[in-house]
Amino acid sequence: MAFGFKKTDFVYVNDSYDPEEKRWENEGEFLKADDPRLMVHYASYGVNYGNSIFEGAKAYLGKDSRIRLFRIEENGKRLARSAEGILMPSFPVPLFVEKIKELVVLNKGYIPDFEPDPNKRGSLYIRPLLVGEPGLGVARSSKPKFIAFVSPVGPYYATGFNPLHAMVIHHMVRAMPGGHGACKTGANYVMSMLATSHAKKHGCTEAIWLDGTQHKYIEELSACNFMCRIGNTLITPELSDTILPGITRNSILKLATERLGLKVEERSITLEEVLDSADETFGCGTAAVISPIGKISAYYGRTTKEISSGVGEISRKLYDLLTGIQWGVESDPYGWISILE
Ligand code: PLP
Ligand code: COI
Repeated sequence: MAFGFKKTDFVYVNDSYDPEEKRWENEGEFLKADDPRLMVHYASYGVNYGNSIFEGAKAYLGKDSRIRLFRIEENGKRLARSAEGILMPSFPVPLFVEKIKELVVLNKGYIPDFEPDPNKRGSLYIRPLLVGEPGLGVARSSKPKFIAFVSPVGPYYATGFNPLHAMVIHHMVRAMPGGHGACKTGANYVMSMLATSHAKKHGCTEAIWLDGTQHKYIEELSACNFMCRIGNTLITPELSDTILPGITRNSILKLATERLGLKVEERSITLEEVLDSADETFGCGTAAVISPIGKISAYYGRTTKEISSGVGEISRKLYDLLTGIQWGVESDPYGWISILE
């Protein structure tokens, strides 16, 4: 199964925000997926000016046939931080968690079955979003619509849990200091189209972004965070206003120190250091899970470095630990899982 959109039975919508009272007036509704009330208006600030933010989470059908969500509250909190970044009213975290849980249960028939082989497992991707109301002048959205839908998915990259070939982008910038790189707003994703097409022209799957001022330090990939292992140390760029604070990133850092005994460093890392010294590199995120990066091309394709020909030992261990917790194969010592039924 690929990572793509498949219509399911129910979608959640809440259009009840009252800008005068500054609160959501009701609990919203679950509608059949083709209900016209789910449509986004052509004059929406979101459609016209990018006043839209979103989240990504997954529901897993565990080994014990129970439905699990992973750190869903963190998605609700990040949505609220993204909302602050574009001055949009946010959606209350407790209501977010409650409605996402109900949405998953209503669509539970679409959660892919548990597969003993981790590489064959699929999940139900959850996409909550807040999108601006109709308007004309450039303005903040003061009465956004909250929508959440789901879709069964497989691996984000066609390579799945196999090494992919990534291309460093030198001539474009994803996010600048003082900008919105840490917000999960649609605008950050459309930025990557030209870069991905450049990467594809060089036979690569994904773009690796560098910092916008010195073009020297690795930031992240278009759809996930970046990590690399050098010896016994796992390194990932420190969070800033140019990097999305990944929930998977945060979880992996904990698993790496507490379960694998690795040293962890959140610090600036140059492309040069990665090309010279990395023993393993991978991207990590909800959709990407852990996606090993086997080869990195840089300098417009003039340099290609093979980091590893197969999946690295630490990438494999982290993948097994993380997906093990998500599918109920491993215990959940950190209370990351909510079991729905
Ligand atoms: N960075 C970007 C640009 C992303 O789109 C994502 C995916 O959501 C991530 C990082 C990883 O975030 P998370 O682990 O919360 O999914
Ligand atoms: C996610 O991993 O949930 C994301 O939002 C990335 C997206 C590009 C699919």
